[in-house]
Amino acid sequence: MMTLQFSLDFAAPETVETPCLVVGVYENGLLTSAAARVDSAAGGAIKRQIESGDITGKAGSTTVLFAPEGVQAKRVLVVGLGTQKTFDGARFQKVNLEAARAIARLPIDAAVSFLAEVDVPGRDAAWRVRTAALAADHATYRYTATFKPREKSSQPELGSMTFAGADDAQAGLDQARAIAEGVHFARELANLPPNICNPAYIAEQAAQFATGQDNVSCNVLDHEEMAKLGFGSLLAVGRGSANKPKLIVLEYKGGAADEKPYAFVGKGITFDTGGISLKPGPGMEEMKFDMGGAAGVLGAFVSAVKMGLKLNLVCVVPAVENMPDGDAYRPSDVLTSLSGLTIEVLNTDAEGRLILCDALTYTAQTFRPQAMIDAATLTGACVIALGKHASGLMSKHDDLANELLSAGEDTLDRAWRLPLWDDYHAQLDSGFADVANIGGKNAGAITAGCFLSRFTEGQRWAHLDIAGTAWDEGRKGLATGRPVPLLAQWLIDRTV
Ligand code: BES
Ligand code: MN
Ligand code: ZN
Repeated sequence: MMTLQFSLDFAAPETVETPCLVVGVYENGLLTSAAARVDSAAGGAIKRQIESGDITGKAGSTTVLFAPEGVQAKRVLVVGLGTQKTFDGARFQKVNLEAARAIARLPIDAAVSFLAEVDVPGRDAAWRVRTAALAADHATYRYTATFKPREKSSQPELGSMTFAGADDAQAGLDQARAIAEGVHFARELANLPPNICNPAYIAEQAAQFATGQDNVSCNVLDHEEMAKLGFGSLLAVGRGSANKPKLIVLEYKGGAADEKPYAFVGKGITFDTGGISLKPGPGMEEMKFDMGGAAGVLGAFVSAVKMGLKLNLVCVVPAVENMPDGDAYRPSDVLTSLSGLTIEVLNTDAEGRLILCDALTYTAQTFRPQAMIDAATLTGACVIALGKHASGLMSKHDDLANELLSAGEDTLDRAWRLPLWDDYHAQLDSGFADVANIGGKNAGAITAGCFLSRFTEGQRWAHLDIAGTAWDEGRKGLATGRPVPLLAQWLIDRTV
């Protein structure tokens, strides 16, 4: 499925010919400037509906006026913005999402939105256009990959959005296109079922992306090569599956040849049964999203390449399936990781950290990156702590942590920091190895981060636990594409 097509327009709202014109009104009857122009051209059509109470201005509410006289547009979609005093970036994103959902229900293929003219404290026009475009793209994304081919419906589908009323926003639109491509890449990959999206499939997708891109190369290590190198921890997790592990390495050279790369590492468990420490049946299907970190870092890599960012970037994905089997690893096994540290397995369901530790060691040793960030659907505890709105951020480097927090704020793909204090490490003590793979019931997101920190000493490293943010809840839960916007923004910020 394609991303929406985006463009900019500078005409006056009442003169725009379009199947649908989108304008905003605040809660107390206050019209935005586009709404006021449309209203007066249409002889007070909007104000009348405000007076009648049909239009409330409540944030995210939508009303369609069909063929109002005096304006060129076939429809006018009036979107509630809430109260002006409390209007902020998060509200801006919400109303743009709701507007796009309303447009997508109409039998039209294009629309022109003036919502990007609305003032957002502290944000410029480029930010508004980018955020509006990404919200529209997000709201209109449809997963179609595994449905049986249907006859093309005669109902037109929204394919393009034009943003108007915002000058000097071209850079925002260009970034939106690149980020939307990365988000799509991530969502499509994560939504696929695990019988299709297995380690070899992710490797093929990465290799396919690299083919035909300048400055991008892809190298995939198979389990035999990893065995020779000593990936004892990663390979143990994969032993129960017929789908053998892969280590996917993408490199992008957009910066100077002698410049150290930035590195992303993403958890790519293509299905997490828990292994011998088997998960309960209900909800296990959600564990197809356990490669959300892999999807996220690959998507951010796609965005960086599409933007042609002037930096070097590597993306490393350990892709593994966690299954119970006669040959599966077991609780009490002691593993020797690539770093040489030994690990006592106390729970085979704490497998993400076991593949990440080797991937992080490999990335640090091979690329000596100037910063290394991993993204992983690592712990249920993180979802308990932060819910579905914020990713958990852990780092011992305040500057790196603050860079990531601010990239999250800028893209509304927000993270919240948790501590990695030494005090927590005692929970990982083992009588049989250097470290245990679980730390007990307290502070589960943090002890998982502490485990990873044992393998990243001396590195400028941060960890994003995206267990709550990588997909939406419910029966039709879909991958969100997070943290592609956060990571893409962080990279953009490294180039300015
Ligand atoms: N992939 C899961 C984490 C997860 C659980 C993500 C629920 C999203 C929703 C991870 O591999 C896991 O099973 N973690 C265990 C760790 C525990 C055994 C220490 C968990 O969170 O229960
Ligand atoms: Mn698990
Ligand atoms: Zn997992």
